[in-house]
Amino acid sequence: MENAALGILIMAAGKGTRMKSELPKVLLPILDRPMLGYLLSTVKKYVHPEDESADSPSARVAALVGYGGERVSGYLRAFPSVEIIWQKEQLGTGHAVQTARPWWENFQNVLVLNGDLPLLSVESLRTFVREHMEAGAACSLLTFETNSPDGYGRILRAAYGKKVFVVEHRDATPEQRRVREVNAGCYLFDVKGLSRVIDELRNDNAQGEYYLPDVVSLMNDAGMVVRATAVDGREMLGVNTQAELAAMAMRVRDSLIHDWMSRGVRVMDPSAVWIGPGVVLEPEVTLMPGVQIWGNSLVGSGSVIGPYCILKNARLGRRVELVANVIVEDSELADDSKAGPFTCIRDHSELGEHAFAGKFVELKKSRVGRRSKVPHLSYMGDAMIGEDVNIGAGSVTCNYDGKDKYSTKIGNRVFVGSDTMMVAPVTLHDDSATGAGSTITVDVPEGALAVARARQKNLEGWASKKRQQEKQGG
Ligand code: UD1
Ligand code: MG
Repeated sequence: MENAALGILIMAAGKGTRMKSELPKVLLPILDRPMLGYLLSTVKKYVHPEDESADSPSARVAALVGYGGERVSGYLRAFPSVEIIWQKEQLGTGHAVQTARPWWENFQNVLVLNGDLPLLSVESLRTFVREHMEAGAACSLLTFETNSPDGYGRILRAAYGKKVFVVEHRDATPEQRRVREVNAGCYLFDVKGLSRVIDELRNDNAQGEYYLPDVVSLMNDAGMVVRATAVDGREMLGVNTQAELAAMAMRVRDSLIHDWMSRGVRVMDPSAVWIGPGVVLEPEVTLMPGVQIWGNSLVGSGSVIGPYCILKNARLGRRVELVANVIVEDSELADDSKAGPFTCIRDHSELGEHAFAGKFVELKKSRVGRRSKVPHLSYMGDAMIGEDVNIGAGSVTCNYDGKDKYSTKIGNRVFVGSDTMMVAPVTLHDDSATGAGSTITVDVPEGALAVARARQKNLEGWASKKRQQEKQGG
């Protein structure tokens, strides 16, 4: 491992001042994944291709952290093979690479990537590295053309006696700013060449920073081969403002949805549906307008997700129907189950096959067995409900005494009358029933009917007596 040919260095130490956010820029979410996560997943696919025949380099990966470095390294714990290098003071991208020198000196080549390149594809990365090696260049960098080049470093070719030269936006003359070819922030260096010039960087520029792109100039001056290759700009867009972040999220969203549609998912209004990058949808799923699906949710074939449903880490089987406005979080809905409208299913709840949770129903850490129904206006918390149970409208498991939570067990074929309060811990055994309006505080034996409410008293003639009293009084 020590002698890997390629070091991949991701620069993630900057603040991203223009985002005007306390969160380090690389952690800002695109959909529900931090920006850095996209690049890391691309790098991971490059280093460990799923397709065995693809050429994979023997590479090590490191990330530079600095601003908000505790949070960034916290996020990087999910990527244990990524080494962390601290850049305590962030004096620019050139300084970042200087700081990492003891690390990259171990390799023959070092690939340096801006942390804000979420759309870079594995194919582009592979081609870029291959072409650099074939050309035997000392430095390669990717560029692209854009009609809004503001903020980017401009690529000047055959100017100032150099083959390629990068001038940062803030240092550029009005004429240079008209150049539409820009630096993408993706560089590959021959380590020997880089070592020779990296300490020559100066910070006498508009931002008082050490600019990595100045290395290109220094290498030119030293007579080394420098290549700037233009590629499709759609992959190279960086994110520097909140507006760009929102535009990027839409772009990623569009491409994810188009990808799912190409695999047979039906989306009524693709512009009104949001899906995160970790979601899996099977063919024949239908998504109605306003649906959001996040986390590692899975939706099985034939399921219909109605308008304004929000799923987060939800596992839905086949032919599940969510009518409308259903929220499912960290929960599982089995084949042919149904929920909604206006249902909240959360905290490791389960809906069994053909089970139903209906209007204004909340399930928290509860299991509803096969063919059981909770059709209206109920709260089931910490409840284990068996098969073929009917929970009457307005029923509640009273699971909390202000301090601790307790569970309710409901057996098979139980009929819970409307407006039953089940004060946990309590068990309703198989085939039992409760009378409407009962407050159940002790276990109900198998097959028994529990009626726990005050007996009704009818006061005959009450209305006329009252009227008489009122007359006398007035
Ligand atoms: C940089 C390039 C610019 C290019 C653009 C592409 C420089 C000087 N300019 O500009 O030519 O067109 O990217 O998007 O490099 N970072 C550190 N340590 C630092 C400073 C930055 O790790 O001290 C990291 C940031 O976290 C970020 C990356 O480097 O991931 C690029 O920094 P950023 O501030 O976005 O550079 P730009 O000004 O966009
Ligand atoms: Mg940038």
